[in-house]
Amino acid sequence: MKRTEIVHALKSDKINEDILVKGWVKAFRSNRFIQLSDGSTIHTIQAVVDFEKFDEALLKRVTTGAALSITGKLIESQGAGQKVEIAVEKIEILGDADPEEVSKTVMQPKKHSLEFLREQAHLRFRTNLFGAVFRIRHSVAYAIHKYFNDRGYFYIHTPIVTGSDAEGAGEMFRVSTLDPKNPPLTEDGKVDYSQDFFGKETNLTVSGQLEAELAALALGKVYTFGPTFRAENSNTARHLAEFWMIEPEVAFNDIYDNMDLAEDFLRYICKYVLETNADDLAFLNEREKQEDQAKPTAERNELSLIDRLNFVISNDFQRLTYTEAIEVLKNSTPYKKKKFKYPVEWGTDLQSEHERYLVEKEYKKPVIITGYPASFKAFYMRQNEDGKTVAAMDILFPGIGEIIGGSQREERYDILIEKCKAFNIPEHEIWWYLETRKFGTVPHAGFGLGFERMVMFVTGMTNIRDVIPFPRFPKKAEF
Ligand code: 4AD
Ligand code: MG
Repeated sequence: MKRTEIVHALKSDKINEDILVKGWVKAFRSNRFIQLSDGSTIHTIQAVVDFEKFDEALLKRVTTGAALSITGKLIESQGAGQKVEIAVEKIEILGDADPEEVSKTVMQPKKHSLEFLREQAHLRFRTNLFGAVFRIRHSVAYAIHKYFNDRGYFYIHTPIVTGSDAEGAGEMFRVSTLDPKNPPLTEDGKVDYSQDFFGKETNLTVSGQLEAELAALALGKVYTFGPTFRAENSNTARHLAEFWMIEPEVAFNDIYDNMDLAEDFLRYICKYVLETNADDLAFLNEREKQEDQAKPTAERNELSLIDRLNFVISNDFQRLTYTEAIEVLKNSTPYKKKKFKYPVEWGTDLQSEHERYLVEKEYKKPVIITGYPASFKAFYMRQNEDGKTVAAMDILFPGIGEIIGGSQREERYDILIEKCKAFNIPEHEIWWYLETRKFGTVPHAGFGLGFERMVMFVTGMTNIRDVIPFPRFPKKAEF
């Protein structure tokens, strides 16, 4: 007989027909009710055992975590909460799970801290919480590909090993096959990378943008979706050393088209998840409500997870310039009461306390800030008429902070060369990038969405380490 996945079995109307399911035991109550999960849904199917018909030694092996193959009849459920259940005819143990061992792990059905779950990242997939998170993570990835595919974008694979550090987005991880104990040296005593694998210094990429621009200037509309690496020593709930980024790049788009695209894109993802992952979302929504009850009122979420997703779908984002943002901050109560730790001054970067104030207190909705001073944004961002600001945009989300960073790109060769000089970017390193501005250069724009930050928003998880299967952060590369 062919195996039926539990997600389908639960919806099946083939009552009184034989069925075969396989999965892991979540619970076995009263020597009678097996709750079986196979990961296809957050729900378990109940398999009812008439213990008098089964060998006692066999039933002893039906323990939490054990893998079973169950054959039986699909029948209408007697109990509440499920439509169907299985009247068991045959149980086969596929893999035992020693209860003593299980009791030391996150499979033990009780409440565990997220930290403890992280230490057992190899087993946390088995929990309801992480099952829900990773099913949704998949949906978000699929929605992203679908969004772009349906709109005629091409998926471009940009390199993971890169020979340029032009982006300046962060510290990089070196890629080398040289012997760290005894590297070849140049005459002046430096490591001789010309003898390294690629014949030059190479690193893991921090972004695929520069390469995506090359593709956009031929294919029109492209996007990347790949791993990116930043060796910053950021031990925060929003930073990973290895994370995934989506970077659309569109020829002929200006900064306003870029904002429209980003808003539409983010809204689409929220809508897709609401429509596709109702069961997992309901679980996460309920979990968050319960967690909130244990918190002081001021720390509770004003809107539930599902309401937050609906809010994004049905409200325009607040758009304002950096200059306007500085004014708003200067007129704010925390500023006047000297509650901000960092200065609010035109020309200094906004800190997360400022961003949070704008998003969570002032506007209470996603915010897009444009027109940042050129000095603290990347060299490739298009210079505005005022000569001081660039056509940059950051999108800030409640509870997340910056979820998207992007810009209209500097398409004017002369200005780009000047910017390279000002930012100390060696032209010989990115000659290939600069060349595109010599052959039919056009206005174009794009942005980068932090995939894990998006997954945080749609799952309500508050630590980025809990939305990627195996997080990498300072001093942690286990699994
Ligand atoms: O703002 P960033 O650095 O922008 C770029 O890399 C541009 N090349 C994007 C572009 O225009 N094509 O990064 C983009 C997004 C951020 O807004 C944030 O959501 C996420 O990537 N991000 C991180 N996510 C997790 N951990 C980190 N260390 C992150 N750094 C950035
Ligand atoms: Mg940024």
